[in-house]
Amino acid sequence: MTSFGRSMLSEWHLDPDYAYLNHGTVGATPKRVLQRQRDIIEEIERHPAEFMLRRLANPMAKDWEGEPPLLRQAATDVAAYVGATDPDGGASGGADGLALVDNITTGANAVLGSLDIKPGDTLAVTNHGYGGVTNAVSRVAELTGASVQTVTLPSAGAPVADFADAFRQQVQPGLRLMVIDHITSFSALVMPIADMVNHCRDNGVPVLVDGAHVPAQLPLNVNELAPDWYSGNLHKWAWTPRSSGFLWVAPEHRHTIHAPIVSWGIGNGLAAEFDLPGTRDPSGFLAAGEAFGFRQELGEDAIRSYNHALAWTSADQLAQAWGTEFTTPEAMVGSMVVIKLPTELGQTVDDAERLRSHLSAEALIEIPVFSPDSEAGASASPDSLSLRLSTQIYNDSSDIERLEQAVLNLAAAAKTGAST
Ligand SMILES: Cc1ncc(COP(=O)(O)O)c(C=O)c1O
Repeated sequence: MTSFGRSMLSEWHLDPDYAYLNHGTVGATPKRVLQRQRDIIEEIERHPAEFMLRRLANPMAKDWEGEPPLLRQAATDVAAYVGATDPDGGASGGADGLALVDNITTGANAVLGSLDIKPGDTLAVTNHGYGGVTNAVSRVAELTGASVQTVTLPSAGAPVADFADAFRQQVQPGLRLMVIDHITSFSALVMPIADMVNHCRDNGVPVLVDGAHVPAQLPLNVNELAPDWYSGNLHKWAWTPRSSGFLWVAPEHRHTIHAPIVSWGIGNGLAAEFDLPGTRDPSGFLAAGEAFGFRQELGEDAIRSYNHALAWTSADQLAQAWGTEFTTPEAMVGSMVVIKLPTELGQTVDDAERLRSHLSAEALIEIPVFSPDSEAGASASPDSLSLRLSTQIYNDSSDIERLEQAVLNLAAAAKTGAST
């Protein structure tokens, strides 16, 4: 059996001098997946026109005879991985509802651009929502005369039931769209998503789930969750090359969804619209199967349990060592945790950047640091800096100890500096 920890760094190109504790930000792709991507690129270059114009996608067809084009085959692999395969098969091998998009931001923009939003409609986000997606919601509201409601959820550390209760109280019938993060970004919380989606369904509120961090970090079955739309990144936790994400669309919305980039496929259905948004590099999507295969070889459950256990136990260890508190329930933790830092380290945006760059340059630790004064403020600790720890199978307790000690040293130096 493969043992996880820093020895796994040999499978990545990551600089082994670093403790890389920021897998969540943009992911990190294993060597063998990148090699597969390079092989695909070489195959494309042997006959680019044949590959790109005839094998990759068919923007004119709603259906095809025989083998589906390559992007539809990739979509079928992705649908199987995220539990979004059509129960009745469908024209493209069970992936009729699955669009391959560069990232969740594109998926969210596709949904927003496809809704017939009227002046006076209300679109809702939460205070834990990701700023880029919230901006897209605000922009569409501005253009259409709709308004934006922010659903206020508790701060990190509150019991799960408080999140579900606050959501139920504020999300009322009549909303045109609700956007919820399945795992939040700045607070790194696994939301009680099934409760939230069910509440939206029961109240006739269309719901888009932002699953940027979910595929591979958590077991995912989109069909079972059954929101109206689910969009996620594969290049973060599922180890596929950047950029690769997906947008799943419920059957009742498939005739109204449009790709945000209009090209030849317009009006020919989801696959035709999304698979050819002009010429683009398809190699990341086509190499996704290699990432899924690698994960399967190592053991999907084994990877997930290792990453979760390291995040969960480290959060407690670090909070105790630093004299701060960590009260997030385990059910709200995947493979990322946000931990408060000692108050001696300050709380402004400048303090956060100084600390992040010091940890990177001096202690060779890559980790994001948030200030309550930044856009993370609404969902992170209100009175101190905090950092977001991501754990991946190439990390182990030695990385955590390096982080623990580096922060203790800096806090001690800040205290001495302050008292002299
Ligand atoms: C919750 C959430 N949504 C959306 C995004 C945006 O992801 P991308 O830039 O890949 O579209 C992120 C990025 O970290 C995120 O954490």
